[in-house]
Amino acid sequence: LYEDRLDLEALVRAIPNYPKPGILFRDITTLIEHPQGLRVTIERMAEAVREHSFTHVAGIEARGFIFGTGVAMALGLGFVPVRKKGKLPGQTIGQNYALEYGVDTIEIHDDVLDASHNVLLVDDLVATGGTAIAAVNLIRRTGATIDKASFVIDLPDIGGAEKLRDNGVDVHAVLTFAGD
Ligand code: PRP
Ligand code: MG
Repeated sequence: LYEDRLDLEALVRAIPNYPKPGILFRDITTLIEHPQGLRVTIERMAEAVREHSFTHVAGIEARGFIFGTGVAMALGLGFVPVRKKGKLPGQTIGQNYALEYGVDTIEIHDDVLDASHNVLLVDDLVATGGTAIAAVNLIRRTGATIDKASFVIDLPDIGGAEKLRDNGVDVHAVLTFAGD
């Protein structure tokens, strides 16, 4: 099948010195602009976790929405948006996380998850793991189970996936870029 041979790694554009000197930015816009790239990426993410029985897929604003909604549809599940602060209209719970400079906050509605639920976390990329670990901690505060996370890209040299595993979260990534 053409899809089986599609080189997803080649569809991720590398942009040197963005957002600052010395950083090699992995740009997924070229992957999702490709007519089969978006679908095949999402199919591979869903395939890797298909044996597990999740109740929801949670995706992190903004790039996690692109892949998370697709994975939710592929698995026949609903999608829970993990949003940046102040965007959700209902009652929320929030979790702070450290950025390079300062802190940010992510939020979910406080009535969507409970201890009967098993959530798959989806985002485009794991670097430091700070964003994903904040999402895991936020979702765990609802009582829901979250012990699997699926990413398009892992940057293992930065160590976020390892930190997630230390926090009891199995990590799957479609692509791994090491040695940058
Ligand atoms: C990027 C990326 C991940 C996160 C990974 O999101 O989409 O969510 O950073 O980095 P970390 O593992 O070091 O936390 P960003 O906050 O730049 O925003 P966006 O998704 O809205 O573009
Ligand atoms: Mg993001």
